[in-house]
Amino acid sequence: MDTTPLIITIDGPSGSGKGTIAKRLASEYGLQLLDSGALYRVLGLAALRHSVDLADVAALEALAVSLDVRFVVADNDEGVQVLLEGRNVSREIRTEEAGSVASIVAAIGPVRAALLKRQRDFSQAPGLVADGRDMGTVVFPEAQVKVFLTASAEERARRRCNQLLGKGFDANLERILADVKARDARDTERTASPLEPAVDARVLDSTEMSIDQVLIEIRELITVNKASKG
Ligand code: C5P
Repeated sequence: MDTTPLIITIDGPSGSGKGTIAKRLASEYGLQLLDSGALYRVLGLAALRHSVDLADVAALEALAVSLDVRFVVADNDEGVQVLLEGRNVSREIRTEEAGSVASIVAAIGPVRAALLKRQRDFSQAPGLVADGRDMGTVVFPEAQVKVFLTASAEERARRRCNQLLGKGFDANLERILADVKARDARDTERTASPLEPAVDARVLDSTEMSIDQVLIEIRELITVNKASKG
């Protein structure tokens, strides 16, 4: 019997729906979940907290190596709680500012290398759903099912705005659209693991798709993969 963990990677720009899709798949198939963006967001927050200069590569690398972050499954609606140095930062890391700082620290090669093993350790039987930017290209190139989920910048900004309002944050659509575009540029133009689809990824444009439609497509890919293993 094949006991290799099933790895499903969902990469794409912010607001494409990756997080929601990854969560739904993990619970449906009983798999581990890795929200790799949360790691970069926590690192950014830790840098702000410890007043680490965002241009100081060596200090950021050291911070990434020693980062005290834990993902704990909560028994309330919150799902997975993110703890930085023992403190629940699940809410704090979701702000636009935390996202921007995350994309600054994430552009640094040695920082990405320092976080690689932590991410790979999430791959445990029976498998994993990993969402991020380089899950299928760099972190789990061996993944059996790879999806690159995208959507127009306008649609992603609109979703992001609704998400923030739903969580009780202030949100301004124009500002969010500008931020989405700036983050896209930073994520695609960087040299360290730029945002791009893996050659063997299925690219899905969700601009005019519902979450359920996206899920149907991915379930099909999973079924095909399982059938190919016999
Ligand atoms: O996915 P999320 O918006 O939470 O990610 C925050 C930032 O972290 C992204 O804009 C990106 O710069 C960075 N990131 C990354 N690689 C990943 C996940 C996130 O560079 N695998």
